[in-house]
Amino acid sequence: MISKKTIAEIFDKMAVEDIVGDFVHLKKRGVNLLGLCPFHNEKTPSFTVSPSKNIYKCFGCGKGGNGIDFLMEHEAMSYPEALRYVARIYNIEIEEDYNKEEDIIEFQHREALQIINKFAAEFFSNELNNTDKGKSIGLSYLKDRGFIEKTIKSFELGFAPSHPRDKLTTKAKEAGHKEERLKELGLSNQYGNDFFFDRIIFPIHSLSGKPIAFAGRILKKNVKAPKYLNSPESEIYHKRKVLYGMHLAKKEIRAKDLCFLVEGYTDVMMLHQNNIENVVATSGTSLTTEQIRLIKRYSKNACLIFDGDQAGIKASLRGIDLLLEEGMDVQVLPLPEEHDPDSFIQSVGHNRFTEYFEERAQDFLFYKAELSRQTAKNDPVNASQAIQDLVTSISKIEDTIKRHLYIKETAKLMSVPEELLLEELNNKLDKQFNKKRSERLKEVRKTSQEKRETSKDKSKDAASTLLEKDILRILIQHGEKSVDEDQNVASFVIENISDVIELIENENFKKVLNIFIEHYNESKVPTFAFLTQQTAPEIRKTVIDIHEGKYDSQYSKNWIDMWDMGLQTQPMPDENQKKDALEALMRFKLNKATKLCRENLELIKQYEQEEDAEELMKHLQIQKKLTEIRNVFAKEFKTIVLK
Ligand code: CTP
Ligand code: MN
Repeated sequence: MISKKTIAEIFDKMAVEDIVGDFVHLKKRGVNLLGLCPFHNEKTPSFTVSPSKNIYKCFGCGKGGNGIDFLMEHEAMSYPEALRYVARIYNIEIEEDYNKEEDIIEFQHREALQIINKFAAEFFSNELNNTDKGKSIGLSYLKDRGFIEKTIKSFELGFAPSHPRDKLTTKAKEAGHKEERLKELGLSNQYGNDFFFDRIIFPIHSLSGKPIAFAGRILKKNVKAPKYLNSPESEIYHKRKVLYGMHLAKKEIRAKDLCFLVEGYTDVMMLHQNNIENVVATSGTSLTTEQIRLIKRYSKNACLIFDGDQAGIKASLRGIDLLLEEGMDVQVLPLPEEHDPDSFIQSVGHNRFTEYFEERAQDFLFYKAELSRQTAKNDPVNASQAIQDLVTSISKIEDTIKRHLYIKETAKLMSVPEELLLEELNNKLDKQFNKKRSERLKEVRKTSQEKRETSKDKSKDAASTLLEKDILRILIQHGEKSVDEDQNVASFVIENISDVIELIENENFKKVLNIFIEHYNESKVPTFAFLTQQTAPEIRKTVIDIHEGKYDSQYSKNWIDMWDMGLQTQPMPDENQKKDALEALMRFKLNKATKLCRENLELIKQYEQEEDAEELMKHLQIQKKLTEIRNVFAKEFKTIVLK
């Protein structure tokens, strides 16, 4: 466990803009920084980073938090992982108060999985670099293929031995890792043997460079076994979200504003070895939307380099429409027929490769049109299909001007009248538009239906929630200000709410309130920074939402409206802390009293119907008492409001 002292130091040194800035392109906007939100798809930036408050907040999707939250959300790190990551950035030495008993059992599941994968990666690497078999079989194979030591190290390659068949499994178990977790990660098979054996191991890394899965390449030629075996999906590995090599490529993709996309692990490595570092692999499957969005965080330009054979060309056509739909600019670099990216760069070297790219990279559509033209030459049926395909691709492009330029070019290339293509394009656009609209309508209908169904109870709940929120807002925003010479807002509020604290309905609010109470007991007020550094994410979120939200916090000052707890937007009188706090408290109490009266009244009606005289009497008396209390509150409230 990371010590409290270290955690405090991490939070002390961490600047949210440093953390977020590595993943989101931020521009200065006044005192804040602004960028495109990485958590939802948007075209105009609403993702705000506030260095002074040390938090980020998206006004589009509502996500917000501190630097640690960002890493947990964006990089899917666990809390301790995120802390360690930040500590590394700021060169903070981590002090552990490690407790043997708690040990691995205490760690969260995900973290246990990560630890096991790290263990496995080290095992494979050691097998490759430091054992006789590894060196004579694995290393020599890699060197024969042209890989140098440095590349092998950067990609953390390894070797899975075949004797004994449970070498990794046994070692891992000896180190205290559970067999069921090894199985879960696909490292051990159902018989307790190693899943990978006699293969070169390519670890697949998370964005932050942690091994989250493995691929194993067979060494022997001409055997029936599959060329690659891959780890199954697990809690820490989601295939559709990962691109091979991204952890090493991301900086350069941003710097070059271009991402090369290849198919194979070895293609990535060999390009990298030749100083082309802005390259990732799709690992032989079609691109997913998640992968495209991952690239788009760093650049909106992609260049596909695929094998020169038919299969490679086919693959390059897959997933293209998806790239266009996501608004990427896509180029294709066709290779000579006998080559794949790995062999090509080995045969021509860095400089010639760069030249070749400059000369031969083609806009995707022209590439596709050219292919279609060739295949359709003598076949009118195919020709029509090819044109349809092209127009479909074009219809995915959002930019109108670009679309029309493409239509013009396609008309020329395929020797068909432009008008014909335009008509076809408009048909497709109409269809897409209608489809989208009907989906949207369905969505709207569904939500308004849901709203209608729940609006009755919701409106009541909303009022009490807002009242509770208002009390917290006062605590969080003004807690340290004073109500008079010797009392601050926080203690004033707490002293006035302690008798009814159980009536707070929202669990998260209660948790935040309890932090204030703990501090109150030591005559302190928790700061905003302290609150946003709490371990529990729901506390951080609640605090940030309340702090940042413009909650229309002022309720009607009008006595009559008050009974309905109506909302009215007015600016907060900053100077009048005491009155503000008192009002919020009384509003809250009054609302609770009214609610209790109402609920009790329901019971009275029920007992009347049931003719239960005894219960009826009891509840009539309760009603009397409640009404008295409510009236006292109401009167107090009135005097505050009118004062
Ligand atoms: N692949 C896979 N399983 C297979 C074959 C391929 O997962 N049985 C994936 C791998 O990610 C591989 C990519 O598809 O990297 C491309 O396949 P291929 O070109 O056959 O492999 P290379 O990576 O080029 O491997 P090598 O050069 O060593 O043959
Ligand atoms: Mn290859």
